[in-house]
Amino acid sequence: MTPTTRTRSSINLRDRITGLDTLTPLLNGRSVPYTNLDNAASTPAFKDVLDAINQFMAYYASVHRGTGFKSRLSTVAYDQAHEIIGRFVGADLDTNCVIFGKNSTEALNKLASRYPLQADSIIITTQMEHHSNDLPWRKHAQAVHVKAQSDGRFDESDFDNQLARYAGRIALVAVTGASNVSGFIQPIHRLARKAHAAGAKILVDTAQLAPHRQVDMKADDDPEHLDFVVLSAHKMYAPFGTGALIGPKSVFLQSPPDHVGGGTVDVVTLNSVTWAGMPDRDEAGSPNVVGAVAMAVAAQLLMDVGMDNIAAHEEELVKYALERLGHIPGVTIYGETDPAKAHEKVGVVPFNLDGVSHFKLAAILGYEGGIGVRSGCFCAHPYVVHLLQLNEEEAAAWREQMLAGDKSNMPGMVRASFGWYNNTDDIDRLVAMVERVARGDYEGEYQLIPSTGEYIPVGYDDALADYFLLAR
Ligand code: ALA
Repeated sequence: MTPTTRTRSSINLRDRITGLDTLTPLLNGRSVPYTNLDNAASTPAFKDVLDAINQFMAYYASVHRGTGFKSRLSTVAYDQAHEIIGRFVGADLDTNCVIFGKNSTEALNKLASRYPLQADSIIITTQMEHHSNDLPWRKHAQAVHVKAQSDGRFDESDFDNQLARYAGRIALVAVTGASNVSGFIQPIHRLARKAHAAGAKILVDTAQLAPHRQVDMKADDDPEHLDFVVLSAHKMYAPFGTGALIGPKSVFLQSPPDHVGGGTVDVVTLNSVTWAGMPDRDEAGSPNVVGAVAMAVAAQLLMDVGMDNIAAHEEELVKYALERLGHIPGVTIYGETDPAKAHEKVGVVPFNLDGVSHFKLAAILGYEGGIGVRSGCFCAHPYVVHLLQLNEEEAAAWREQMLAGDKSNMPGMVRASFGWYNNTDDIDRLVAMVERVARGDYEGEYQLIPSTGEYIPVGYDDALADYFLLAR
């Protein structure tokens, strides 16, 4: 692949991203355009989203409440946003609904508190999950964690065993669509088929999948139908505080909402309440109409580009990154390392460099390379401990240190993660910096802050106020 952006779509990827040319400072006083390789955490905003929001703001007003022109327009936009997000994931909106909230975490917490459960219900989840698709389930039911294999792949034979073991008690299978740590894409439709055969429904956390691959819930009566999916707009180039939960209206109509108040009701007397239909019942209070519009604009652009084009481009990037990083002496890549198997992952590549803390490497990449990555455990402690092959004694020692307020030795990795607009130049910059660090060829003297695990360059003043500072 040449070091340029390639896509089979006619839409120029890089032109649509906000801030790509914005210069950011380096430790040595130079300024460079920021290289964002932290897309698994949050993607930058589409210009299309900002443009649409600017246009919309002139008409923005209360939704579902006002009678004026702007309220009518805002209401239609908000309702259309539901339809567009439903279309984005292939939901049948005669029977399913789109519930907007803050993000995937909130959506998962909502589903965990709204899903009908018995005292002995089992939720089958996995060791690979982001904490947001694990902890909400633990709060409401017995969560059983399907193992990951030693290379980080999902252990489907363990999944089969757990389905058989808990037959009759499994309320829901809750799996990620793609891991935010290893990038592995799960066989969600095959798992759906198995879950349904076992009498369970399936929830797929598509926060990491939907911006990178087509998500298709399929028809309700298809054995491979996904019953519930959740999405986060801040990973879909629309960072305006919105996420969505999509699932059958019938499930939510069985019971009162988790959050009650304005907008959730049809009739209230001093001693009775009749709850509204869906999605109003589950969107308490004045909704984030701007966030919903932003998310819908982003979803439309992703559909216009074509998820297959995005997937093909990102697969090339993963292949290239695995090839190049894999050749740096001292680099260990976790999960899949074979470029020929790049198609099994979304664009997430976790790695470490021998002898250098992941916190320190991430800091040097940022301060000296102008490269944004994330390091640590990525809100997936059990999976990261597994990928690092830490034994129980090592993991316990680390946890004890952390609980004592010292993160100096917190295990973890550096994670480079790609979006559709990244190109091989971005990866070349990452590789060049990692090579420099491997040779000890970096400029700063870094000081560790034990309480956070961060490394900061001694004597450097991050002149944030020269760029943007809210407080005067
Ligand atoms: N879930 C996001 C990540 O993996 C924040 O970084």
